[in-house]
Amino acid sequence: MAKMKEIKAKNMNVEKFIAGKVKDIQQAVGDGLAINALSGGVDSSVVTVLGHRALGKNLKTYFIDNGIMREGEPARVVATFKKMGIPVEIIDASKAFFAALKGVADPEEKREAITQTFYKKIFGKLVVKSKATYLLQGTILTDVDETVAGIKRQHNVFEQLGIDPQKAFGYKILEPLIELRKDGVRKVGRGLGLPEAVFERMPFPGPALAARVIGETSPDRIALVRKATAIMEKTFKDVDAFQYMAILHEDRVTGMRDNKRVFGNQIEIRCWDSVDARKARPTRLSFDLLESVAKKITKNIPEVVSVTYNITSKPTSTMEAV
Ligand code: XMP
Repeated sequence: MAKMKEIKAKNMNVEKFIAGKVKDIQQAVGDGLAINALSGGVDSSVVTVLGHRALGKNLKTYFIDNGIMREGEPARVVATFKKMGIPVEIIDASKAFFAALKGVADPEEKREAITQTFYKKIFGKLVVKSKATYLLQGTILTDVDETVAGIKRQHNVFEQLGIDPQKAFGYKILEPLIELRKDGVRKVGRGLGLPEAVFERMPFPGPALAARVIGETSPDRIALVRKATAIMEKTFKDVDAFQYMAILHEDRVTGMRDNKRVFGNQIEIRCWDSVDARKARPTRLSFDLLESVAKKITKNIPEVVSVTYNITSKPTSTMEAV
């Protein structure tokens, strides 16, 4: 496999990079149509704006609501892009994702189920329906490295794994950010005039809340981790960390409610200091903050009786739980 060229953020001429990629996208797509999926993350947001600059109406952007996003996320992302004059259509695909995830507890099988549902069932069909010949995707160099090294099964890396998307799914993929790492993508985002809240957003994984449910990803369990996520994100909003998250455990433990012993769920909080997500340390949070998040979660989510904080570094831990 050919080694991918890297453009380092510090050496990058943002204006030139943007102009070059706009031209590349225009030349590749010609008079045809392209589509892309926006998740609201930094990479897909930057690709969406770059693609619209290149193709205007000939790029159709979809937000695939997989049912495993955070509270209010689909509407919030679409509203942000509407303000920038970019129309985004929401596709409600939650039934298909939950059907594919039913009974699946193994982490890699979970990721695979999400990949297959996204590309084959939902996006593949959208491409065919839209008659698009190109798919724009926000793959970055770190995704390629981690997938090739076997650290992670990224959902957005095909060609690097020897899978031809044309044969497998029926369309060609353009990856204009593939020479960049996150800091470079943020620079491009700023250069494209995206709101800072978009390009400085905390990372959120492609498999969404399914990466934070240990065991089966059922609608009920997603609803539970979604509530805990909303509470913890609100409580931690002033914490200066690379990323924080709430995880739903598969094991349950005995707890107490109304003077009775109950067998309840456990939520684990993780909060990471990191530069590039390749290594990370748990943030030294105040105990007051930790106790307060535990109190809020157990008060507002009756099914949860126990909240813990992860004190392990990456490695051996990963940042997400799945
Ligand atoms: P891990 O859990 O591998 O996560 O230590 C490192 C960083 O990557 C994010 N992550 C993902 N991002 N698709 C993504 O777009 C994925 O499949 C995925 N898995 C993990 C994670 O949130 C963290 O920032």
